[in-house]
Amino acid sequence: MARLPLLSFLLLCSGVAALAAFDEDNPIRLVTDEARELESAILGAIGVARHAPAFVRFAARYEKKYSTVEEIKRRFGIFVENLELIKSTNRKRLSYTLGINQYADMSWEEFHSQHLGASQNCSATKGTHRLTEIVLPETKDWREEGIVSPVKDQGRCGSCWTFSTTGALEAAYTQATAKGISLSEQQLVDCAAAFNNFGCGGGLPSQAFEYIKYNDGLDTEQSYPYVGVNGICKFKPENVGVKVVDSVNITEGAEDELKHAVGVVRPVSVAFEVVRDFRFYNGGVYTSKTCGQTPMDVNHAVLAVGYGVEGSIPYWLIKNSWGKEWGVGGYFKMEMGKNMCGVATCASYPIIAV
Ligand SMILES: *[C@@H]1O[C@H](CO)[C@@H](O)[C@H](O)[C@H]1NC(C)=O
Ligand SMILES: *[C@@H]1O[C@H](CO)[C@@H](O)[C@H](O)[C@H]1NC(C)=O
Repeated sequence: MARLPLLSFLLLCSGVAALAAFDEDNPIRLVTDEARELESAILGAIGVARHAPAFVRFAARYEKKYSTVEEIKRRFGIFVENLELIKSTNRKRLSYTLGINQYADMSWEEFHSQHLGASQNCSATKGTHRLTEIVLPETKDWREEGIVSPVKDQGRCGSCWTFSTTGALEAAYTQATAKGISLSEQQLVDCAAAFNNFGCGGGLPSQAFEYIKYNDGLDTEQSYPYVGVNGICKFKPENVGVKVVDSVNITEGAEDELKHAVGVVRPVSVAFEVVRDFRFYNGGVYTSKTCGQTPMDVNHAVLAVGYGVEGSIPYWLIKNSWGKEWGVGGYFKMEMGKNMCGVATCASYPIIAV
């Protein structure tokens, strides 16, 4: 009996296109029917288990497609584990909270292999940033100056380093020209291997800046769009959007240098170690007792776009590349002053040609 709804769900998955064509004039009904089919498929597979309604809501909201009863059961099991992690963490009343998001049906191991890639042993650790006597602003948010481009989504590819790189370059470009631009992550995925980068397997913004400097430019997003899988290099000089003259590295662990750079220069590419609970960050100032801070620990590159204080805790304001729905509009706050998770271990920013 319980199997019937699942069968119709399976048919729906393969028949979505046909149904869409048939029901084109009534898209709302299509969505509703699909959600209902999904719900009955899930309830058919897991019964009236505790957390089943939460799982149904999750699957509908993030448009999950599961193809077998086994898959539904497995995803539900992982979802419940993640829900426990989220609830038990939130019960501790820490400076940050966790919440269900698009990753709630993925195990840590899966998430790690699909989104983080291997550690890179950061090489941008010898500082070349010069401190000055200038008085830093108390708080900083480069978004208010309109130079931070919209949040992007790296998908299932360990290409965080390319998004950190384009985010830094897009901000530098807009700062210099007062014009918006979107730059090609895919060129970095496909073409920057000679600079010790590995496409979807990982890389470093500092090494990407070096590549772009050597290559004499990075194409625009529009001319070389993101596909999120490794491919052959299709760089075209006529489509270059920005050129890099040089890059500046922050001394390993020197948060004063990083604060100076973020405070008075521009957004800075940083890396840190993502540990288990971070993927469910939902707000507040993130802090961790389990993440490391050596050049070998950092496994995710992002973009520091400001800093501030929340409650009494100083933080870095950071742009991620897991879509706008993740975190707080795609951003998070990381505790400042302890080189938390290595946030100042592997930082650099570009100088562009204008
Ligand atoms: C990381 O790189 C540094 C500097 O090149 C080197 O001394 C160290 O042995 C490397 N560590 C690992 C684990 O590869
Ligand atoms: C910054 O670090 C990178 C290695 O990641 C290195 O290639 C580059 O030369 C460094 N930049 C400067 C200005 O020292």
